[in-house]
Amino acid sequence: MRLILTLTLSVTPLFAFSQNSVTSSTAEPPPVSSAAQPSDTPLLGLPPVPIPTDNPQSAEKIALGDKLYHDRRFSADGNVSCATCHAEEKAFTDGLPVSTGHHGLQGTRNAPTVLNAAFYTSQFWDGREPDLESQSKQPFINPVEGGLKNHQPILQIVRSDPDYKAAFVSVFGVGGEQLTMDHVAKAIASFERTLVSGDSPFDRYYFNNDNSALSEAQVRGFQLFIGQGRCVSCHTIEQDRALFTDSRFHNIGIGINSIQQDVPRLATAFLEAKNQGEEVDTMVLTNRKSSELGRFAVTDRLSEMGAFKTPTLRNVALTAPYMHDGSLKTLKEVVIHYNNGGVTPAGAKVNAFLSGGIRPLNLTDAQIDDLVAFLQALTSPQIAQQTKSATPQ
Ligand code: HEC
Ligand code: HEC
Repeated sequence: MRLILTLTLSVTPLFAFSQNSVTSSTAEPPPVSSAAQPSDTPLLGLPPVPIPTDNPQSAEKIALGDKLYHDRRFSADGNVSCATCHAEEKAFTDGLPVSTGHHGLQGTRNAPTVLNAAFYTSQFWDGREPDLESQSKQPFINPVEGGLKNHQPILQIVRSDPDYKAAFVSVFGVGGEQLTMDHVAKAIASFERTLVSGDSPFDRYYFNNDNSALSEAQVRGFQLFIGQGRCVSCHTIEQDRALFTDSRFHNIGIGINSIQQDVPRLATAFLEAKNQGEEVDTMVLTNRKSSELGRFAVTDRLSEMGAFKTPTLRNVALTAPYMHDGSLKTLKEVVIHYNNGGVTPAGAKVNAFLSGGIRPLNLTDAQIDDLVAFLQALTSPQIAQQTKSATPQ
C-alpha cells in the first residue's frame, strides 16, 4: 500500500496514464480522478500503446483491472493473484528462477515482467497467445499457477460480490450470466496497458541527445550492443523508439542442451499429446522437457525447436534471474553466454538448432563489463525507485 502511495504522489507519472490503485479486493471503489484518463502521449523511447478497438481504455476499466489483478480469491488455495508472480515491488516479476503457484507448486518457466508487455505482438516466451486479453485467462486455470479447474469460481465471485457487480455494470453494462471471462480479461488487459515504462538514461541519451545521461562505460557498452555484440539485430532499436525486441523467436542455446539427444522422441510424443487435445499451456508449464521445446510447441515446426521470444531489455537490471528457465543469475552470466557463442559453460556442445545469429563474440573482460553497464542504463528511474522503496532498510 505504501509503495502504491509513493507512486501516485511521484511527480513524473510511472505509467503512461496514472491510475487509481486498488490493492485490496474489499476496498471501496476508488474515486475516479481526471488524472486517470488515458493519455495518447507516449513516454520517451516508446511508441503509443496499441489499444484494440474492441477494448478502449477508460479510467474505471483500468481500476477494475487493477483490482482483478490483485485478487487472490481467483486461485485454488486463495493465495495466488497475478501480482504474486508479477509483483510491482519486483519490477512486475517474482525474482525466482521459475514461478511458484498455488500450494507451492512449481512451474517450469521464469515469470517475465508485465511492464511493456502491452507492446508485444504475442504473449508468453513461446508466443502461444496473441494478446493480453487471451493471455490473462490462462494463469487462473493452469494446474501449477492458479490451479482452478475452470473459470466458474471467478465468475461466481464477480457476479455476486457487490463491488464487482457495480463495477462491471458501470464499465461494460453487464451482470449475471451476461458477465463472462471476456469482460474479466478485457479489464485486466486494460490495466496491463498502463504498465509501460520508458524514459531510461539510454532514452535520454539516444532520443534526447543528452550526452550526460550515460557513463563512459555505458556509451562504450552501447557501441558494443549495436556493433561487435550484434545484440541489436534481435533486441531492436528504431529511430524514434526502442522496444529491444524484434517480436520473433530464436534459439540462443538456453535449456535445449538438457534435452538434445531426446528431441526426436520428445517432439513426437508432444505432437501426439497435442493432437489428442492436451493443452499446450498445461504441457509446457508442468513438464520441464516439454518446456524446452519452445516455439516448436506452438507451430510444430522443427526449425523453431528451442526457440523463444526475444524479450524486451527494458528494466532488465531489475528482473534477475534471466532467460525462459531462469538459468542465468546475472547480466554478466548472460553476456558471457553470448560471448561463448550460445553455450554455458564455455566449451559445451552447441545445439543443433542454434540461431545463425549466435556466434562467439571475442569480447574482452572489459568489454563484457561495458555491455553489462549498458544494460543497466535501460532501467526507468520510476521503476528503480519503486523496487528500492519496497526493499526493507
Ligand atoms: C504462478 C505464477 C504466475 C501467475 C499467478 C501469473 N503469471 Fe503471468 N506468467 C508467469 C510465467 C511463468 C510466465 C511465462 C510462461 C510462459 O511463457 O510459458 C508468465 C507470462 C505472463 C505474460 C507474458 C509476458 C511476456 O513477456 O510474454 C503476461 C502478460 C502475464 N504473465 C500476465 C499475467 C496475468 C495478467 C496474470 C493473472 C491473471 C498472471 N500473469 C498470473 C507466472 C505467473
Ligand atoms: C538471435 C537473436 C538474439 C541476439 C543476437 C541477442 N539476443 Fe538476447 N535474447 C534473445 C532471445 C530469444 C532471448 C530469450 C532466450 C531464452 O530465454 O531462451 C534473449 C534473452 C536475453 C536476455 C535475458 C532477458 C530476460 O528478461 O531474461 C538478455 C539480458 C539479453 N538477451 C541480452 C542480449 C545481449 C547483451 C546481446 C548481445 C551480446 C543479445 N542479447 C543478443 C535473442 C537474441
